[in-house]
Amino acid sequence: MKALITGGAGFIGSHLTEALIDKGDYVCVIDDFSTGLNENILHLQDYHNFSLVNGSLLDKELMDRIIDECDIVYHLAAAVGVKYIMENRIKSFKINVQGTENVLEAASKGNKKVMIASSSEVYGKNGKIPYKEDSDRVMGSTIYHRWSYSCTKALDEFLSLAYHKEKELPVIIMRFFNTVGPRQLGCYGMVLPRFVSFALNNKPLTIYGDGNQTRCFTFVGDAIRAIISLSQCEDAQGEIFNIGNNQEVSINHLANRIIEISGSSSLVQHIPYEQVYEEGFEDMRRRVPDISKIYEYIGWKPEYELDDIIRSMIASPVCV
Ligand SMILES: NC(=O)c1ccc[n+]([C@@H]2O[C@H](COP(=O)([O-])OP(=O)(O)OC[C@H]3O[C@@H](n4cnc5c(N)ncnc54)[C@H](O)[C@@H]3O)[C@@H](O)[C@H]2O)c1
Repeated sequence: MKALITGGAGFIGSHLTEALIDKGDYVCVIDDFSTGLNENILHLQDYHNFSLVNGSLLDKELMDRIIDECDIVYHLAAAVGVKYIMENRIKSFKINVQGTENVLEAASKGNKKVMIASSSEVYGKNGKIPYKEDSDRVMGSTIYHRWSYSCTKALDEFLSLAYHKEKELPVIIMRFFNTVGPRQLGCYGMVLPRFVSFALNNKPLTIYGDGNQTRCFTFVGDAIRAIISLSQCEDAQGEIFNIGNNQEVSINHLANRIIEISGSSSLVQHIPYEQVYEEGFEDMRRRVPDISKIYEYIGWKPEYELDDIIRSMIASPVCV
């Protein structure tokens, strides 16, 4: 099997690259290194079944050529993270919308299977928990740019389903919920690597808001199992799947566990969202996946608990 991984030098992409290479697949990675790191894939460069293209999703001719040469595309490249999106507004739209369109259009020429990375952000601020794949999307006003990420991912989903319906393109949509683990960067607003890095340096852990908001953290190894297994499931084509842990953790609890497990002397500080993002910034109080659909299709459920995840991140170098 010859796989193309867009964004393969990124956090999830580099773990997937390793897993597919271990499985014996040939893996080509395309990445423009905007948030991905060469060191995430450097150890793979001498493998006979690995190649790297330093380029962009926005280069249509390049995408046509490299997708033509593969059997399956894992489309993970995107502008990711609330902070990154807020600071790179136009660029984020182009990558997340035009980039995905380039992938789908090129894939449709050879009817290549496409695994689309979407996000729990598509549910927006829907207060009905847990989120099922057919739950409503509840969005804030367009004057608050934070909702743009959710909308770009929703457009990707619509377009993927349209290619599936009209051109019978085999697409599978994966909605990731706070995927975490080694190699994730904290500098684009991701909470866990940011806290781990601060704790290891005995610096204060800054919590945005009151810290009672909860999230569900999914270990990257669990997510990779789900991606590979879904890609092999014929019935999953044309379907959307939540990929997430359903164990809720408050951000206050997270900060305290990280301090305790790392033996840090860090203190916890609370700061208002407006100090970090824009005036009127809204965050979801809870975001919990219903994972019965993915269990029904491939028997997947997460295996890693929060403390295992924290330990794995403490054991590997983190970058903020
Ligand atoms: N990590 C999470 O918690 C999470 C949650 C929901 C959805 N996702 C989705 O999963 C995917 C992977 O996310 P990640 O956490 O690994 O982020 P990441 O930033 O580590 O990976 C994204 C990769 O895409 C690359 N990239 C960006 N623009 C590109 C372009 N124009 N051309 C080529 N490469 C480009 C980046 O350099 C990076 O390597 C994304 O689509 C993201 O939206 C992630």
